[in-house]
Amino acid sequence: MKTIFITGASTGLGKATAMHFAGQGWNVTATMRSPEKETELIKYNNVLVTRMDVQQPESIHRAISEAVERFGQIDVLINNAGYGAVGVFEAATEKQIHNQFDVNVFGLMRVTQALLPHFRANQKGMIVNISSQGGRITFPLTSLYHATKFAVEGFSESLSYELASQNIRVKLIEPGIVKTPWYSSAERLHNELLSDYNDFTESFNKGFEKFIQKNAHLQATAEMVAQTIFRAVTDESDQLRYPAGHDAEETLNLREQLNDEEFKAYVHSQVLD
Ligand SMILES: NC(=O)c1ccc[n+]([C@@H]2O[C@H](COP(=O)([O-])OP(=O)(O)OC[C@H]3O[C@@H](n4cnc5c(N)ncnc54)[C@H](OP(=O)(O)O)[C@@H]3O)[C@@H](O)[C@H]2O)c1
Repeated sequence: MKTIFITGASTGLGKATAMHFAGQGWNVTATMRSPEKETELIKYNNVLVTRMDVQQPESIHRAISEAVERFGQIDVLINNAGYGAVGVFEAATEKQIHNQFDVNVFGLMRVTQALLPHFRANQKGMIVNISSQGGRITFPLTSLYHATKFAVEGFSESLSYELASQNIRVKLIEPGIVKTPWYSSAERLHNELLSDYNDFTESFNKGFEKFIQKNAHLQATAEMVAQTIFRAVTDESDQLRYPAGHDAEETLNLREQLNDEEFKAYVHSQVLD
């Protein structure tokens, strides 16, 4: 039986992925910052729920040791933990900027580096990084978040060359918009002194709401993204990128067809009121 190790499995895509793999008979290590709150995943015999904060190196090493002790080995790492900083860049504090990168990029790198010795010892392994369509395209008012996902894309693509030499595959999942607690948990970047941006922010908030409603039929559920992750893990291919959701597929296809100015004009027409 194979074993998967997931970060940020308390809610949203991480939890749906943990449930999906557990349902498919995999051993699952579902890591999260507050495991004491988890009530569903603890019911599975093949799921280990344990504490891990991607910003705390000791918690990463401890969770990996626990997983190996319980299941013998880890075959696949899913780097899923992440959050969004939403608002005008100028309003962001130094701490908010650092924290956004510390969780979404450096946290992912920390967990990856902590698991690589284990994968090399096993002479195989797989790393699945949960990026976003927003790792290749951008919407307004999420510049820091996009910066982290663009970083994850470049990191993963380059890393895949050296890890192929060790029989370790790297994959990227690029979900479109998925209903999860992501938006409600997002960090708001706000500074009352920056009222010059108010008209723009209002226009985006209205336009984006309409955009989400108009495209609701194209958006994947967390369970659908979990299915895409399962396919990426099991398809035996060297495919690097997996858009998840028809919205992501359409948007990323369009990005390839248009030049920068055309694509920016398209985004403007879609999300600004
Ligand atoms: N939802 C979307 O539309 C969408 C689209 C594209 C990509 N994504 C990406 O998918 C991933 C999962 O997001 P989601 O939509 O499922 O959002 P979510 O429901 O808010 O889940 C985010 C998870 O990350 C965890 N997390 C945050 N900071 C952490 C830290 N320092 N250490 C460990 N875990 C931490 C959260 O844990 P706590 O419960 O402890 O806060 C939670 O388990 C993220 O990387 C996100 O950027 C989401």
